[in-house]
Order: sequence, then C-alpha cells, then structure tokens
Amino acid sequence: MSNVIVLGAQWGDEGKGKVVDLLADRFDVVARYQGGHNAGHTVFIGEKKFVLKLIPSGILRPGVQAVIGNGVVIDLAALLQEMETLEASGIRVAKNLKISNRAHVIFPFHRLIEKMSEARENRIPIGTTSRGIGPCYEDKTGRRGIRIADLFDPDAFRTLYDVLAADKKTLADTFKLGEEIDYSEIRRQTEEYAARIKPLVCDTAVLLADAMAQGKRIMFEGAQGTMLDIDHGTYPFVTSSSAAAGGACTGTGVPPTRIDGIIGVSKAYITRVGSGPFPTESNDAAGDLLRREGNEFGAVTGRPRRCGWFDVPLLRYTAMVNGFDTLVITKLDVLDHLDEIPVCVGYKLCGAEIDEMPATWRALEAIQPVYQKLPGWRTSTRGISRYQDLPARAQEYLAFLQERTGVEIGGISTGPERNETIIRSGSKLEGLI
Ligand code: IMP
Repeated sequence: MSNVIVLGAQWGDEGKGKVVDLLADRFDVVARYQGGHNAGHTVFIGEKKFVLKLIPSGILRPGVQAVIGNGVVIDLAALLQEMETLEASGIRVAKNLKISNRAHVIFPFHRLIEKMSEARENRIPIGTTSRGIGPCYEDKTGRRGIRIADLFDPDAFRTLYDVLAADKKTLADTFKLGEEIDYSEIRRQTEEYAARIKPLVCDTAVLLADAMAQGKRIMFEGAQGTMLDIDHGTYPFVTSSSAAAGGACTGTGVPPTRIDGIIGVSKAYITRVGSGPFPTESNDAAGDLLRREGNEFGAVTGRPRRCGWFDVPLLRYTAMVNGFDTLVITKLDVLDHLDEIPVCVGYKLCGAEIDEMPATWRALEAIQPVYQKLPGWRTSTRGISRYQDLPARAQEYLAFLQERTGVEIGGISTGPERNETIIRSGSKLEGLI
C-alpha cells in the first residue's frame, strides 16, 4: 500500500494533526487538498506545541516533502507568518514545502465580504472562522478567482485583480460596509508576498505524479471533517470545500485509481465549532466535563467547542461517503472519569426510526438520538500504548464502537504526545502504514 488519505470522520478537530504527524515518517510526501487557514492542527512534540493551519503537519518530519495542493485556498500573509514561526522553531519549511500554482489566493477583502454575508438580514449565520475562506471559493467557482500562477504574470495579475477588486468595492458600497479598504495597497502587498513564495511554487500534480512514478508514498491530509464537507456535510453549516475523501483527488490532481487506503479519524466522543445541527450535543455538566478534560477550545479561533456523545449513525454515514478502511479513535483518555458513557446508536425523527442521514438542517435539528449507556472504566488510560493494557471496559467501549459502526478501529490515541498511541497489531491500519 502506498497512497493513503487521512481525514476527519466528524465535524473537524478529531486530532488528525497528531495522526498525520505520527504516520508521516512512513511516507515520502504529505499533501493538503482543501481548506485554508481555517484549519488548525495542533501537534505536541515534547514540550513544544505547534499549531499548523495551512502547512501540512508532515512538515514537522525532516525529509518529508510537504505539498499544498490546488484545492487549498491561500492567504499569503497567513502562509508567510506560519512559515516564519515554524522556521523560528528550527523546522526547515522553505526546503520541504511546495505550493500548487493552481491554488486560489485569499485577499483581505474576502474577509470583509464574509462579514457582510454572515451579518445579512434573513441569512442564517454559519459561525465561520472569518478567514475569507467561503468568499474565496465563491470566486473560484465563479471563475473570477486569482490563482498563485497568476501572480507571476504581472500584467495579467493587475488586470484580474483590478476587476475582482472593483466587484468587491461595488458590493461593499452597496451594502454600506463602511470599512476602508486600500485596494491598491493590497495589490502591492500581494506582489511583494508573491516574490517571497515564488521558489516554492510549482505544478504540484506533476510533482506528485513524479513521486508516484519513483515509487514514493503519499499521505493526503484532510482538513475540517466530513460533516463540514460542502456536499456531504450538514449544509449550509459547512465549510466551502470538499473535505471528504473525494476531495483528495480533485484537490491534488492524483487520480482515484492511485488511492490505496482511507483512514478516518474520530474522537471517542464528538465536538463541533460554529453553528448548525448537532444531534448528540450535551449542554449539561457532562458536556462541560468533556470540554474541560478534552481542552475543547478552537485551535484557530479559541472558541469553546460544543461537545457531545459518540454518534454511531453519523459515523456510519461518514464511513459510507468516504469508504474508511480503518478508524483511529482519539482522546479516549478524556472519558476516563465518567461512570457511564452514552453512545448514540440510532436516530428518530417524529418518533420513527430513520436509517438515512437527513439532507436538511431542519430535519437534522429535529433528530432525537437513541442512546445506549456503556459503563465507564474510571481509571487513567493516559499514555497507554498497548491495546492489552487498556482497562477491560475501555476495550469493551471500543469493541462496541467498532461493531456498531462496521469499521475497524485500528488505532487509538491516549494523549497528545507521539508515543501516546496504540496501533493494533494485525489491523488494516498497520497494513496501510
Ligand atoms: P469556514 O470554513 O471558516 O467557512 O467555516 C465554516 C464552518 O466550518 C464553521 O462552522 C467553522 O467553525 C467550521 N470549521 C472550519 N474549519 C474548521 C476546523 O478546522 N475545525 C472545525 N471546524 C471548522
């Protein structure tokens, strides 16, 4: 097996950063395929905490080629700042990072447009990360976006930029946004940033094709999670890109026939940031405990995450649209103090059991979860690295999730450090990596 996708099975923040970092040294290339600096991957190495937003977590492994694929949207100021922070910590970013010439550029006015659409009367606010992600993807699909390659053709860039800026100015004036934007300063700054990233830019689809031709192994790193996917998520409370496994192909130019395995990452419970339906949300003391024990605050925005119980129907759904070969369950240790652990095993809508994930947010909001309570283990699992060392009830909890979701649990994370991880011997996960 050589090329593997690692992605979130819930609403993001499942701990993919740690999983990608852990597995990265078994791959030659790690590629991001969608999203932008709305993502926040936190990785702990010893005492050091790294928060990666745009750059694939694989950058933390020396010798691993990191790639930002064409499906990603790039805020150049954010990229350069992240590069500087990593370089200051001794990570050799300039040497190991390549950026797609087909990725789209986020401009500061995209944030302004986002503010407008979030605040508009009669519009449901999505609770976005306010990074301009959605408006940049809107320009991409509207075929008026500006790509990294355009930055290196100064005349074409100026023409494209001036048209785009004029559009945004009209919108800003029409909706009386009242915020002064210096469009020519943004253009000047973009030209300066472009010169700085130029050595890193290439046709990354060619780079990946060459890597595969040389027998190199690629890991595709998803951002956000399947339930935030623009098509398969809880629309409209989603991000604007294809976070599900299919996005790995469109977002990098690697054909579907070259994908050998798909690893889903899920917490042992579930969280969500931003608005939108959340059937198993726990708004009581138990939810507070999960937030406290799991330190559930957004890596990018610092917002407290909404917390709830493991949702089997949701996981079955994300397994269906992604085709997970195996799951890594993270943050098992967060459940250590609970007497009993509710797990959602089914959905009811208007009193009747349903098998399918409803398509509309109103139906999703109306779901009544059916819970089964499992006994807690009430002892520390923190740092355990062998499956047989887990308390029996923790093993039973995991076996229950595996049986109900129909997906192998190949890995378990029991703490933020690299070595606080179990990879089950004989699992498909072991075979994939
Ligand atoms: P956007 O991606 O900023 O447009 O935000 C759309 C929705 O996706 C909001 O609910 C965000 O909170 C959520 N979101 C975006 N990125 C992440 C992430 O990395 N983790 C969790 N939620 C995210």
